[in-house]
Amino acid sequence: MTKLAREVPAGGPLLTFDSGVLGAHFPLEPFTFRHDLAENAVLQLEALAALATQLPRDRIEFNSGRLQPNQRPDETPGVDLEPEEIVRRIETAGAWLVLKNVETIPAYRALIDRVLAEAAEAAGIEPGAMAEPMGFIFVSSANSVTPFHIDYEENFFVHLHGQKFMHVFDNRDRSIIDEEGLETYPGKHRNHAYRDDFEAKGRVFTFGPGDGLFLPYTWPHWVRTGGDWSISMAITWKSPSDRRRNKLYFANAVLRKMGWSQSAPGRRPGLDTAKAAAYDLARLPLEPLRRSEAMRRRLRALLFGSKANYFYGKPGDGSSGKKTDGA
Ligand SMILES: [Fe+2]
Repeated sequence: MTKLAREVPAGGPLLTFDSGVLGAHFPLEPFTFRHDLAENAVLQLEALAALATQLPRDRIEFNSGRLQPNQRPDETPGVDLEPEEIVRRIETAGAWLVLKNVETIPAYRALIDRVLAEAAEAAGIEPGAMAEPMGFIFVSSANSVTPFHIDYEENFFVHLHGQKFMHVFDNRDRSIIDEEGLETYPGKHRNHAYRDDFEAKGRVFTFGPGDGLFLPYTWPHWVRTGGDWSISMAITWKSPSDRRRNKLYFANAVLRKMGWSQSAPGRRPGLDTAKAAAYDLARLPLEPLRRSEAMRRRLRALLFGSKANYFYGKPGDGSSGKKTDGA
């Protein structure tokens, strides 16, 4: 087994940007770049199989990958293998798997920090403005689909092996995702309703090894792999504005579940401030508890019902990894 503690090698830059393109689009619109991560030792299958044994179970999600952009969550087909085996056999497994929060492992945190430091320098922003650096590594068999969804962070997406296509849509278009659809809470399934007529409003980015895409905060997308197995990594962070907006989306979702209609963030600034403060107060005592997987599981069930843990599945019961915690 490859040792995971290998340091990221010193050397030239990992990312290559067209400074004019970056200056014109960051952070509000997507743009492509190139990277030098495809041969990195910690991103090869052997190292990722070892990584799958190190992460807590609620940080790994997997299914058969035979999904539709408009996938019904309760009909997601499972796969009857343990995560480590899925990674090792990805060429033939017929599976889609994501390793979440890999920044909790030092070798991956070092890589994420280096990528974000380069990106911050290129964008001319303080590295400290990129909060909550995280990494998500996707390992997929050929012809897998990630259904239509949004992510609550900004993302330097790097493609490492095989071919991938990302269908990306403008997050300012409320005909794609409406205001309530933007709101979120733990246990809400990541998949959003998708219609074929959306396709004409989107852009399709094609990736081979070495290709990258900046994906802005909450830009809707769905993803498919080509005819070979693939590896990609999402290197993510949140700006101060993203973090505040996440609090408001959460507060609005909770208040809407209680029966009160909510205005979009920015429409009533005074109320937004009160909601963000209430979020901080409510979250404070929970934060230390969230460090353990067992406690995270109990908290999700207590606050959001048993369905909030439904991404836990047992291999062989046809439901393995078929749900998400909305990460
Ligand atoms: Fe995503």
